[in-house]
Amino acid sequence: MILVSIVGARPQFVKMAVFHRAVAARTGMRHVIVHTGQHYDAGMSGVFFEQLGIPAPQYQLDVGSGSHAAQTGEMLKRLEPVLQETAPDWVVLYGDTNSTLAGALTAAKLHLPLAHVEAGLRSWNRKMPEEINRIVADQLSNLLFCPTQPAMDNLAREGLLERARRTGDIMYDAFLWFRGIAKGNPSELSARWHGRPFALATVHRAENTDHPERLTAILDALEEVSQTVAPVLLPLHPRTRQRIDALGWRPRGVQLLGPVPYLDMLSLEASAQLILTDSGGVQKEAYFARRPCVTLRDETEWVETLHDGCNVLAGASPAAIAAAAAAWKQAGPWTDLYGDGRSGEAILDFLAAG
Ligand code: UD1
Ligand code: UDP
Repeated sequence: MILVSIVGARPQFVKMAVFHRAVAARTGMRHVIVHTGQHYDAGMSGVFFEQLGIPAPQYQLDVGSGSHAAQTGEMLKRLEPVLQETAPDWVVLYGDTNSTLAGALTAAKLHLPLAHVEAGLRSWNRKMPEEINRIVADQLSNLLFCPTQPAMDNLAREGLLERARRTGDIMYDAFLWFRGIAKGNPSELSARWHGRPFALATVHRAENTDHPERLTAILDALEEVSQTVAPVLLPLHPRTRQRIDALGWRPRGVQLLGPVPYLDMLSLEASAQLILTDSGGVQKEAYFARRPCVTLRDETEWVETLHDGCNVLAGASPAAIAAAAAAWKQAGPWTDLYGDGRSGEAILDFLAAG
């Protein structure tokens, strides 16, 4: 059986690492990795392959950055011959990036069986590029692997329940597997902060970075948190770094870092008092690590995390961010929402059964 994974962005490498390990443990299956090149900096791509033990992609399409249409169009052109040549039994897509969208369109037009990992997520905000990508990937896929019950419910509402399977969350598998490895290999950065109070923040969503007033409000709120709650570490996505430089914003208490490797990120998440983020993956990892999370968005796909102060939606409002951050000690208790850490195997069982 030939399984082709199409990936391109940081969170997809994490999800695919779990799938790759599950395939490698079986006989009679070949896993072909196609990297669109959406993320290409060493800190956004190469370091994930190294740390997560993923082999180099068999196909590296080097598409790079561009507008949504230019980037997606270039992916379509470069993916088509690869999928024709590999003739997969399944094309496997992850999450909601432009690489997911391009993989879905290309495979569907070639009549190839298509599976979507992390299906059924909805923010109900069609201005988010990711929402469009998810809707298309779910519509076109033959098998829809849902991490949670709310994701299953969303697909039921859209008439897609017959193709949906609840498998648990593949990022939870990754978290359980790699946190031990991270603990045993503390980086200089995570060792420096272990046992000291700090908050960890990430900001990269277009809705925040591409609106100067929202980005400034969030950065100013993080400054306030660093004065009133705990020092804030802010590893920057390159998009955010560019926007901060363009604004001419200078940190006073917030500590700006480059993108952090995955294992360091898990270590920092584990020892942070509090996590503030607009990332889907980091919201979940905060929940897995049982750390209070303040989400810097107006809505979330991960609605099940919004209980008992475990995750609080604060948007880009400085007052709401400061209030949610100040209440971090009241968060919890957390529960087990994301499966048993064997979703990679469950997904593979469904694919093998056809
Ligand atoms: C993409 C996904 C988003 C996901 C995020 C994960 C889409 C529409 N968005 O957003 O859902 O949460 O990945 O991190 O697919 N850049 C670099 N080096 C890189 C990669 C990007 O400098 O290695 C810069 C470029 O200026 C680029 C910008 O970041 O234009 C945005 O990159 P892009 O891949 O288009 O979107 P992300 O913001 O990364
Ligand atoms: N991540 C990381 N280093 C960082 C920021 C994020 O390793 O500096 C990891 C994070 O732990 C999670 C994934 O990248 O596993 C989330 O990706 P991102 O926030 O870029 O995208 P999203 O999940 O919002 O699509």
